[in-house]
Amino acid sequence: MGATPDAVSVIATKRDGHALSDEQIDWVIRAFTDGLVADEQMSALAMAILLRGMDRREVARWTAAMIATGERMDFADLRRDGRVLATVDKHSTGGVGDKITLPLAPLVASYGLAVPQLSGRGLGHTGGTLDKLEAIPGWRADVDVASMMAQLSAVGAVICAAGAGLAPADKKLYALRDVTGTVESIPLIASSIMSKKIAEGTGALVLDVKVGAGAFMKSLDDARALAQTMVELGTDAGVHTVALLTAMSIPLGRTAGNAIEVSESVEVLAGGGPPDVVELTLALAREMLLAGGVDADPAQNLANGRAMDSWRAMIAAQGGDPDAPLPQARESEVLTAEIDGVVGDLDAMAIGVAAWRLGAGRARQGEPVQAGAGVRWHVSPGDRVRRGDPLLTLLTDTPDRFADARAAAVGAVTVQADLDAPVEHGPLIIDRVTVG
Ligand code: URA
Repeated sequence: MGATPDAVSVIATKRDGHALSDEQIDWVIRAFTDGLVADEQMSALAMAILLRGMDRREVARWTAAMIATGERMDFADLRRDGRVLATVDKHSTGGVGDKITLPLAPLVASYGLAVPQLSGRGLGHTGGTLDKLEAIPGWRADVDVASMMAQLSAVGAVICAAGAGLAPADKKLYALRDVTGTVESIPLIASSIMSKKIAEGTGALVLDVKVGAGAFMKSLDDARALAQTMVELGTDAGVHTVALLTAMSIPLGRTAGNAIEVSESVEVLAGGGPPDVVELTLALAREMLLAGGVDADPAQNLANGRAMDSWRAMIAAQGGDPDAPLPQARESEVLTAEIDGVVGDLDAMAIGVAAWRLGAGRARQGEPVQAGAGVRWHVSPGDRVRRGDPLLTLLTDTPDRFADARAAAVGAVTVQADLDAPVEHGPLIIDRVTVG
């Protein structure tokens, strides 16, 4: 056992390209959480990790050290009618128009599995699941552990705010990474996500790792490396973990915002909805059912109304009124096609930024969001349009936001004059990553 590490020597080890020892990792995570390592020192270490990377042992130890700073939940005793309930959760690395959790959690619950979906609020151009659900009148994100267990047992699905007690080191470190340009590090993203998911205590986990212009990971190689790292971390911690690599260069569905994404999710639960949202919901549901030991085709419960019943019960259990009209933005502005042609591309990032500037997202933690704000797109790649046809509708309660949102959105839809120019359509589900 060497001398107790100190912050400068830990930073220098990584700066010089060496692996951190278990002792260094345990010490620096604990000391940072306790306020003994200064923010500027942890920022320097995060930057060294971003530039130098971490090997498999280091990432596993870093994740375990972050878990050890907080509490762990345990669903082992979860029962319905005396039968033990298997738990299965899903996590998406975030994309524009990604409302999949909303139909997915009740759909999977309708097959008798328990889905404890501890979610976050949005920051920046990708929206947060809790912000979307808070558009439903009366719905509450804060659920204590006893109520969560009772809801999982009775309804099978809960989507709620993660308590501050899970991996507090990650909460502190993520806030720092957010303002120091150190979010985009594969080991740091993987350990951040998996520390919370492992501490949450789910038995199985399905990851949706996004790749493309609107995602954290712009290249397939990086997305695959992130997925592989997370699957290994989950598997090593005893959580049955698989990942799908899915496309995020064009946004999902037809809406990005809060209330408008809830409406689209309800359409899916009613057996309709945009084809890409349905495809991804079903692909992830298949993986979750498989991981939970259920042999069934999830399309059935979308068609027969059982998933909708679970949705209504889930919303009502958290104080929401599933029949209440959703808030609507007070103002709207439509952007139209300037030429006749064919839609070539929809820029997910530009649409996400426009929705955020309209008030659907927040620039700083804790800011309120507008329930009705967002962007609705009226076209998909390959659609023919005429000059003057609507392409995008911008929605907000505060019209002084239109100018900035328009600046982001104006080039978001590409219309090609040449009707015969090929429109590239890659697959939505790109690959499946498992251990081994
Ligand atoms: N989401 C997280 O929880 N952590 C990251 O580092 C990135 C996305």
